[in-house]
Amino acid sequence: MKEISITQPDDWHLHVRDGAALLSSVPFTARQFKRAIIMPNLAKPVVNVEMALAYRNRILDATPQNIMFDPLMTLYLTNKTSREGIKQASQSKHVHAAKLYPAGATTNSDKGVSKIDDLWPVFEQMEIEQLPLLVHAEVTDTDIDIFDREQVFIDLHLSSIREAFPELPIVLEHATTAQAVEFVKNYKHTAATLTPQHLLFNRNALLVGGIQPHNYCLPILKRETHREALITAATSGDPKFFLGTDSAPHTKQAKENSCGCAGCFTAHAAMELYTEIFDAEDALDKLEAFSSFYGADFYRLPRNKSTITLIKKEWQAPKSYPFAEHSIVPFRHEQALQWQIAD
Ligand code: NCD
Ligand code: ZN
Repeated sequence: MKEISITQPDDWHLHVRDGAALLSSVPFTARQFKRAIIMPNLAKPVVNVEMALAYRNRILDATPQNIMFDPLMTLYLTNKTSREGIKQASQSKHVHAAKLYPAGATTNSDKGVSKIDDLWPVFEQMEIEQLPLLVHAEVTDTDIDIFDREQVFIDLHLSSIREAFPELPIVLEHATTAQAVEFVKNYKHTAATLTPQHLLFNRNALLVGGIQPHNYCLPILKRETHREALITAATSGDPKFFLGTDSAPHTKQAKENSCGCAGCFTAHAAMELYTEIFDAEDALDKLEAFSSFYGADFYRLPRNKSTITLIKKEWQAPKSYPFAEHSIVPFRHEQALQWQIAD
C-alpha cells in the first residue's frame, strides 16, 4: 500500500511545555492531531482549573491560525489535592483527567504525590465524577532497578487502587512492559497509551554503539520481549490500547549533558512513526482505530470527523529544529522515515 486515509487522530499523552517554547512545540502536533491530552508537569505544575484554563489559552495562542486544535487539559495531583478540586475539574468542559506523578519519578514531578495512600479520598471523588486517573506508573525507590520500576509500581500501588475503585477510569500512561499489558487487559475501565519509541525500540537503542541520549525517556526502554508485547497490544485491535506519543521536548543542551533529561521529542513525525510501525507489522488496517477511535471512546468524547492521508514516501527529519531561543533534536533525526502526511 502506498497511501492510507484515516479519521484525524488525537494524541492522548503530550508535553508542549510553556512560554516561548509553545510556538515551537504546538504547531507540530496541531498539523496532524485534532486534540491532545496536555500533560500538567510544567515547572510550576498545573494544579487547579484556573491554571489549566490559562495554560490552555496560551496553547491556543501558539496554534497556527488556520488550524482548529483542541487542547484537552489535565490537573497535576499533589498531596494537597482535595475532593473539591476534583469536583471543580469535572465541572470544567476543558479539564478531562488528573495525572498522578509519584514524587521524583520523572521531569517536573518533585511536587507530585509522595504518599499515594493519602490520595484515596481524591480517587474516590474521581470515581464518583468519572474523571479519568492518568498514571505515571513507576516507583521511585532507589533500591528498585530502573528496568523493574513499572512492574513494581503495578504490584505495590496500581493493583490496590484498581481494586479499591473499580469504576474509576484509569490510563496506565506510556506502558512499557508485558506486565503492564496484562494488567490493562485484566481489568475493566483500564487502558494504556503506547508511545512510538517503546513500540520501535528496545533498550539496545540506548546503549549500543555509544550512549544515545535522544532515545532516553521514562519509563526507560525495556527488553525486546516487552516491546513485542506492546506491538501485539497495539496491533491486536484491542480498544484498551491507544495512541499517546509522550512527545517530551527538552533542549539539545539539556539532552546532550552529563546528566541528560528524560524525554523523546516525537511530535515532528508522530503519525509518520506510528504508520511505519503498523506497516511493518502488516497491520495498517488497525491503525485508524488505535489512533482515532479508542482513545476518544475511552474519554467519552466524539470521534473526529475530518480525515488525514499518509503516503509512503521516504524523508528525513533534520538534525535539529528551533526551540524557543534554543534547539531541539528530534527523535530519529537524519534517519530514513517511510511515511509522510499528505498536504
Ligand atoms: C516526560 C517529560 O519530559 O515531561 N519525560 C519522559 O521521559 N517521558 C515526563 C514523563 O512523561 O515521564
Ligand atoms: Zn509524559
